[in-house]
Amino acid sequence: RRYRVAAIAGDGIGKEVMPQGLAVTQLAAQRFGIDVEFVHIGWASCDYYAEHGKMMPDDWKAQLQDLDAIYFGAVGWPATVPDHVSLWGSLLKFRREFDQYVNLRPVRLFEGVPGPLANRQPGDIDYLVVRENTEGEYTSVGGLMFEGTEREIVIQESVYSRHGTDRVLRYAYELAQKRPRQKLTVATKSNGIAISMPWWDSRADAIGKDYPQVQVDKQHIDILSARFVLQPQRFDVVVASNLFGDILSDLGPATTGTIGLAPSANLNPDRRFPSLFEPVHGSAPDIYGQGIANPIAMIWSGALMLDFLTEGQGQGRAAHDAIVQAIEHALAQGPRTPDLGGSASTAELGQAIAQRLQAG
Ligand code: NAI
Ligand code: MG
Repeated sequence: RRYRVAAIAGDGIGKEVMPQGLAVTQLAAQRFGIDVEFVHIGWASCDYYAEHGKMMPDDWKAQLQDLDAIYFGAVGWPATVPDHVSLWGSLLKFRREFDQYVNLRPVRLFEGVPGPLANRQPGDIDYLVVRENTEGEYTSVGGLMFEGTEREIVIQESVYSRHGTDRVLRYAYELAQKRPRQKLTVATKSNGIAISMPWWDSRADAIGKDYPQVQVDKQHIDILSARFVLQPQRFDVVVASNLFGDILSDLGPATTGTIGLAPSANLNPDRRFPSLFEPVHGSAPDIYGQGIANPIAMIWSGALMLDFLTEGQGQGRAAHDAIVQAIEHALAQGPRTPDLGGSASTAELGQAIAQRLQAG
């Protein structure tokens, strides 16, 4: 079958890394017999906003919802559009309206990229962070009272539904079960947050009954964060609520060197709506226009997309692995963009990965 994918470059370096991402993803798709058609979309960008006074056309949902995926660059150009307007007017609408309840971020240390942690070898850091992406601490339930007086009070609730918690836990167990180490770490804080977090723990136990092979380890978020730095080799799959997962999924990639490598997937595993694949980084206005952005996060996100689109059929996994191997090779051998300590351009690094993919 043919997979139809929206390609939305967005703003800043999103426009520079997208062509490299498209080229490598398309090449891998062809090599492994996956039929992908990209539909190029110019909206969901601050350029569109400048012309139309909004980030997207009113029928954006109708245009996207029957596609299989969204391949997304980055959005945001704070010099012309405030960040909360650009983000809430595009990316956050996709995540919510398309019920992308899993935010998946692979974290890996590569040969040739000295991360900030001393004495770490590739292999020591190789895990997946699964963040709940729709509820939890990120709600608008609450309020500010007695504003401006000494009695001022602010309250914001966390909301965890059984449906929302169980589905992200189940996704994480499934993922852990398929990995060689079959380990799942559940981020929690049941000592301090004594109502909702013990409940999270109990849901983790309940869902875990269906996955007896998976070894489960519940860790409080504070010590878990310390171990991301001190003992990263302990982790395989880590699942967390929205806020805890947000923090862990920035901390993890930070331990592996440049943000220019980190990919992410915003998944609707039920496949009722398109899932979205994007680099973790933003539009990087400070380097935009120089052609020096690292394209690897964008390229790796394309690999995650091919894997997800054809899940269970093998070719997508093979295409993913071939792309990651080509990335590994380029990181070990060069060329390198400035964030990796070199002076290569976005296109040179992207083409080196494409050539490696073609060769092997
Ligand atoms: P950023 O990720 O754009 O940049 C942070 C730093 O990392 C900058 O110094 C940048 O040059 C560097 N960097 C980022 N990606 C790189 C790459 N591929 N290669 C080499 N260096 C790279 O984050 P920042 O500066 O906080 O935000 C800039 C804009 O991007 C804002 O408008 C923000 O709202 C937006 N943003 C959008 C995101 C998205 O679309 N998912 C995520 C994060 C920020
Ligand atoms: Mg974040």
